[in-house]
Amino acid sequence: MTLRVAILLSGGGSNMVALADSMTGDHPARPCLVLSNKPGAGGLDRASARGIPTACVDHRDFAGDRGAFEAALHERLAAAQPDLICLAGFMRILTPPFIDLWQGRMLNIHPSLLPKYRGLDTHARAIAAGDTVAGCTVHEVTAELDDGPVLGQARVAVQPDDDAATLAARVLQAEHRLYPAVLRRVAEGCRDPLHIP
Ligand code: GRF
Repeated sequence: MTLRVAILLSGGGSNMVALADSMTGDHPARPCLVLSNKPGAGGLDRASARGIPTACVDHRDFAGDRGAFEAALHERLAAAQPDLICLAGFMRILTPPFIDLWQGRMLNIHPSLLPKYRGLDTHARAIAAGDTVAGCTVHEVTAELDDGPVLGQARVAVQPDDDAATLAARVLQAEHRLYPAVLRRVAEGCRDPLHIP
């Protein structure tokens, strides 16, 4: 049985591209939808160019009513009948009622070695703390922000001359290796954490 994967994004979608391009050949999963909360998100065009159905649920249409936004998001997602949802640079906080609907079936990638640096500005915070190792984490989404069982981590050395932008670029390359590797394992039924040195 082929696993159907929906990918949620808000931006350029480089993680979406890495995920989508990995789901070929004997891979047990295929992308069924790329959905953005931002109409102009570059990731939508990149998905269309790959023949993946796209949709947009613009959070600004809901005038701050997060429940109504999430209801619309859920309706659009449910119509695509995904088995798994991958958050890939999706920059809206999701609330517990929505997360409950997809519990155990939603993954996220976060640009830090969780539990360090939940939330934003992870790279600047790692540099400010004098960390010599940074990285990224794929985890199951639970009600707590950037929490939930870790499914994989990749480590990246912090160079002495790094700033937040150079570190972010290097971590992003690691994200592109980690997320497809974890997705494949999860699609094959393995949720043991993967560690990429
Ligand atoms: C990634 O660094 C992801 O970890 C973060 O937002 C960025 C998204 O980049 N949450 P892209 O849209 O996948 O290129």
